[in-house]
Amino acid sequence: MKTLFPPIDFDTFHREVLPARIAAGHGALAARAIAGLPPLAFRLPDGRAFTFFPRPGGVELRPGVEDAGTLVDLSLAAWEAFVHEIRTLYRLYYTGELTFAHGDFEGMNAWEPALRALFHGRPVFDAADLDLRDRSGDPLDLQRTFTLDDDDEDMRHFLREAGFLHVRGVFSPDEIETMRAEARRLAEAARPGDRNSWWAITGAGETALCRVNYAGLASPRLGALEEDPRVRRLATLGGEVVRAVPDRMDGTFVLFKLPDAREGMADLPWHIDCGFGGHSVFCPSVLVGVQLDAATPETGQLLFVPGSWRTACRQVADPVNDGMPVVAVETAVGDCTVHMGDALHAAPSPKGAGPARRTLYVQFYHPAVFGVVEPGTGFNDVIFDQDAVVPKSRPEAPVPDETSASARIEA
Ligand SMILES: [Fe+2]
Repeated sequence: MKTLFPPIDFDTFHREVLPARIAAGHGALAARAIAGLPPLAFRLPDGRAFTFFPRPGGVELRPGVEDAGTLVDLSLAAWEAFVHEIRTLYRLYYTGELTFAHGDFEGMNAWEPALRALFHGRPVFDAADLDLRDRSGDPLDLQRTFTLDDDDEDMRHFLREAGFLHVRGVFSPDEIETMRAEARRLAEAARPGDRNSWWAITGAGETALCRVNYAGLASPRLGALEEDPRVRRLATLGGEVVRAVPDRMDGTFVLFKLPDAREGMADLPWHIDCGFGGHSVFCPSVLVGVQLDAATPETGQLLFVPGSWRTACRQVADPVNDGMPVVAVETAVGDCTVHMGDALHAAPSPKGAGPARRTLYVQFYHPAVFGVVEPGTGFNDVIFDQDAVVPKSRPEAPVPDETSASARIEA
């Protein structure tokens, strides 16, 4: 059987492959993020183990678990999936695929961005390094907005620097009314437990709809947005080869923000869309958000850490506490947002008690997702059950070293 991600020899990886990458510069990318952290060890069921020690300017690897402050036990398959970035710490922890003999989740969470730097050469996000520039070389105005009359190269540059983009007045009031009517129709048809919708519990204890997935399959009018020239133009601004995913990865979905959600997934915490895994399969991804209502502090906004999308960063409770900059995007009805799925972002609770925003997201992923993820499934399915999203096959590719991937992205 053809394999998608080849097996990795645990010993060779730690004794030869990774030390070579560390020496070639990956160690320096990780060093600042792990300075002072307790050493981290991975141990397989057969007892083989390696410990990562922070060292000035890099990392030292030693066999065994001696002095490990955080000791992670996991299967070889889980370790391979982690190294290939098919599964993240969040995913493995959530599903019980790893346990801690010493230390805890936070101990490994603090290491994870640095591990991505060591494994793949992806820099760790550090606000001190942030230097976003416009095409003229001036500091990027992160509050800048665009219209469809603007130059594609200006918009592309902004999106690739910041990881998000705000384009005003993309859809007419009549078009938005049609989309709202379709969104209402889908909302009325949705039922808790139908697996195509997400629900939350309000402050009054009521069950309320917060998201309808695969909206483009249930509504041809909404599905037509996946082919809309304006949406496709915005999606290609990411500079990536991407395809709409009508029948997998949740498809095109409608978000219904709630003013008083207490439990559930109505208010997404800070995350990256590959936070459960799949980065090596479907990123970079691009999401075009059609604003069916104004997005304001009162109705609910989208927040971003600018410049985070090409880095490895922790999914923390509040990036501000970690010294990261945050940009809130305020939109009008008919505007579109565009964002890279692996930008660190959040959709916090509306501050007002009135009607909250509805946004329709058209998702675009790397075409590799069609060879890996089955129709009707996606990496978010882990929320519903633990057996979901097992890649049906594995691509023939080595553990990705993004030194070369970056060159592809820039091309
Ligand atoms: Fe997201």
